[in-house]
Amino acid sequence: MAENRWALVVGASRGLGLGLAAELQRRGWNVVGTVRDEAGERRLRKLADEPGGEIRVEHLDINDDAQIATLRRRLDATQFDLVFVNAGIAPQGRSDAASASREEAAAVFITNAVSPMRVAHAFLDRVRGGRGIIAFMSSGLGSVANKTDSYSELYSASKAALNSLSRSLAASLGGRRITVLAVAPGWVRTDMGGRGASLSVEESTRGIVDMLESRAGTGRHGFVDHRGREVEW
Ligand SMILES: NC(=O)c1ccc[n+]([C@@H]2O[C@H](COP(=O)([O-])OP(=O)(O)OC[C@H]3O[C@@H](n4cnc5c(N)ncnc54)[C@H](OP(=O)(O)O)[C@@H]3O)[C@@H](O)[C@H]2O)c1
Repeated sequence: MAENRWALVVGASRGLGLGLAAELQRRGWNVVGTVRDEAGERRLRKLADEPGGEIRVEHLDINDDAQIATLRRRLDATQFDLVFVNAGIAPQGRSDAASASREEAAAVFITNAVSPMRVAHAFLDRVRGGRGIIAFMSSGLGSVANKTDSYSELYSASKAALNSLSRSLAASLGGRRITVLAVAPGWVRTDMGGRGASLSVEESTRGIVDMLESRAGTGRHGFVDHRGREVEW
C-alpha cells in the first residue's frame, strides 16, 4: 500500500532533494528528509501542508560520522523502502585536478563519494529486503564512457567514484535483494545547475520517482537517468 512506504531523502533542504521529497510525498510516500539548517527545515516542513504522505525532518551533515550514527539510532524503528542519498557539492573555486586546492579536491570527493557511501552503509539494515532501493544522486558527468571533454573534471570524477562505490556496495549485499541505483537527474534548474539548465526540478524528480517505482523489486544495480534509460558507466 502506497501509504505504508517510507523514504529517507538525505539532503532534502532545496533543489533536487526537496523536489524528490515533494514528489514522493504527493504520491503518498512518507518521507524522512534531512537538512542542515533552519531555512532548509522550513522549506521541507512546508511540504506537509500539501495532501499526501507524512513529512518528518531530521538534521544531518553527511561529512560528520557522529551525526550519521545519531540519525541511524533515531531511525532505528523505521524500515525504508527507499534510501536516497542526494546531497552533493560542486567545487567553489578551480575545478580541475591540476590547480584546485587540495582541500577543495578532498571536499568534493569526500562529500560526493565517500560520505554518501557511509550514509548508505549505516542504513543498509534499515532498507526493506525485496522491494527496497538504495539510490545515489550521481550525474551524467559521472559516466567515464561518455567523458569526452575536461568540463568540470573534479566533480565528474567524484561522481564516477560514487558510481564505482555503488557497484562495490551492490556486490557486497550477498543474498540480500536490494536494488542499488546511481541516478543521473539531467541538467536541472537548481542553485547548482543554474537558471539556464534544461529541466525544472519537477520534471526531473517526476521522472526519477517513476523510474524508482518501476525498478523496485528488481534487485538490479544500475546507472539510470531521469527518463529510466540506462547510462553507460
Ligand atoms: N542540478 C543539476 O543539474 C544536477 C545534475 C547532476 C547531478 N546533480 C546532483 O544532484 C544533487 C542535488 O543537487 P542540486 O542541483 O539540487 O544542488 P543544490 O541546490 O546545490 O542542493 C544541494 C543539496 O545537497 C545538500 N548538501 C550539500 N552538502 C551537504 C552535506 N555535507 N551534508 C548534507 N547535505 C549536504 C544541500 O544542503 P544545504 O541546503 O544544507 O546546503 C542541498 O540540500 C547533487 O548530488 C548534485 O551533484 C545535480
